[in-house]
Amino acid sequence: MPVIVVDMDKCTGHGRCYAVAPLLFTDDDEGRPIVLVSHVEGDSEKQALAAVAACPESAIWLEDDEQ
Ligand code: F3S
Repeated sequence: MPVIVVDMDKCTGHGRCYAVAPLLFTDDDEGRPIVLVSHVEGDSEKQALAAVAACPESAIWLEDDEQ
C-alpha cells in the first residue's frame, strides 16, 4: 500500500497539500503539514496524488510500503 512521504527540508509552507487533501493532512502552527493518514489506497490515494501534484516544492511523494 502506498505511503505518503513529506520532506520537511523542502517544504516552505505553501499549504496546498492540506487545502487539496484535508482528510490526509492538517497544518501545524507554522503552516507545515502534519500527515493524518500515512497509508493510502483508492480514493485516499487519489487525494494523496492531488497533494503531490499541488506542492510547488515537490516536497511530497508516495512510496511503496513493502508490507
Ligand atoms: Fe509544504 Fe508543499 Fe504542503 S510546500 S505545506 S508540502 S504544499
